Amino acid sequence: MPSLKLLKAAEQHYTEAKSKLNGMKKKRNDIDQDYPETPASEYLYNRAGPWPQPSPGHPFGVCSAVIHLPWQEQLLWTKEVGLRYARNMLFDWPDALRVAFQTKLEEVSDAECAKFFEESLFAKMLNPKLDEPDKKTFAEFMKKEKGQYFKVDLAPVKFVQTYKGIYVSPSVALFHRPHKNAPIEIVAIHVNEKIFTNKDGKSWELAKHYLLEGASIVGTLLTHPLLHFPFDSINAVTKTALPKNHILFKLLIPHCKFTLPLENAVLQGESSILKNWKWQIYGCYPGPSEGLYDQFMAGYRGLVDNSSYPEYEFPLEPPKIYSKYGDFLQAYYDVIHNFVKNVMSYLPEDDIYVEQWTNYVCQFTPGIPSGEELIRTGKVTNLIAMFIWDVSVAHSLDHESFGSLPLNKVSMRLRVPPPTGDEKEDGAGPLIKPVDTFKFEMAMKMFYRPTNVTFLKDVNYNFADNRLIALNNQFQEDLRRVDQQVEGYRYIDLDCIAASVQY
Ligand SMILES: [Fe+2]
Repeated sequence: MPSLKLLKAAEQHYTEAKSKLNGMKKKRNDIDQDYPETPASEYLYNRAGPWPQPSPGHPFGVCSAVIHLPWQEQLLWTKEVGLRYARNMLFDWPDALRVAFQTKLEEVSDAECAKFFEESLFAKMLNPKLDEPDKKTFAEFMKKEKGQYFKVDLAPVKFVQTYKGIYVSPSVALFHRPHKNAPIEIVAIHVNEKIFTNKDGKSWELAKHYLLEGASIVGTLLTHPLLHFPFDSINAVTKTALPKNHILFKLLIPHCKFTLPLENAVLQGESSILKNWKWQIYGCYPGPSEGLYDQFMAGYRGLVDNSSYPEYEFPLEPPKIYSKYGDFLQAYYDVIHNFVKNVMSYLPEDDIYVEQWTNYVCQFTPGIPSGEELIRTGKVTNLIAMFIWDVSVAHSLDHESFGSLPLNKVSMRLRVPPPTGDEKEDGAGPLIKPVDTFKFEMAMKMFYRPTNVTFLKDVNYNFADNRLIALNNQFQEDLRRVDQQVEGYRYIDLDCIAASVQY
């Protein structure tokens, strides 16, 4: 940890470089010298750090990836995160076995089912825009004039291939919120080319399981990855293009720790859960990796004529979520945005490093405007706030939420074909096998349930200027205030929010 004296000296050096730059601007000659003379040693990796590139797995189908990683980051990740996976595999399987033999997939009441889509990460799938085919499908169920209808569309499940004896099916569910403050209600499910409602007995029960199975697959392989991978370019560019003592570097670096090696292990690693080999003890998905990677692609490239799956664009504000789940996320975003705005006010509007940083990051991620436009419209603050909010609050909450789902209600694999309408009361056998729960529980322990290393509430931005230190302290206070303010819909405690994507 550098001493305060050193940090102050470095900040002083940066200020001097900046004034030198201003001097140079006045003395422009034939050679453009419009740049500061900051030595390479003032950068984290001597200006030779990680950088985004086309993803080796699918250069056109998914976002840019960062695959050449500094050994220091790889080592740190292995020590703090990678070794934990090995410990999980060695020591956690007996408990997963116990859970597997004690768990049966039970009926999910209509209220429970609706609650999953109101109060968990599945809430992100509520879409108030029903496309033309949806309007036709559900026409007879949309007669209520009051309230609002939503669809949850799990069309990407159609890309999933399955191992023998395991079934999946795309589905679309219709929900209705009778009035603004009322909870949503589930109205009907379209699956296996038929529509089911709560008048359909066993078929309805099975349809709800298919809906939850689809939501688990799409939730973890399509919507959640959008919180991970499009943000990696910003992570890499920050480490390589900003001097260590620049305010923007200090603001972002605590939120970049552990992430790049993690992403690389998921996307490129042979042991990745996305490989889902048959023997993989945490391979909880229904089939081979091709169909699973297709979920990633559907999330990034979008689905044609489906308003639930537009082509990915980096959001400069939190995407709208139609439940308290969204209100919770927005409350944290507002505090983070305010903090970022105050910190950035200490930099000149034409700061050359910020301008270059924005020019770099916009090249790799669709939806990020050019550096010039970002600066002109004052949206740099949004970009920075979105990064911090996404990799800390939004990402941690997804994990907390999915990791809390009960395994006796939600499954990633079903052993009974999708409903036909002829389901008998005595059923067609168990919906899941112990091996399905075993793998799901192992994946929960290893990847889905949060395993925090550093926390948002503890972040020290290592500012040397007293005014910036005061902002850091105020930010921590404001975070605690939000944690109190959301009493009643606190989907994750502040104490459980990680500072970066680290699982
Ligand atoms: Fe994650």
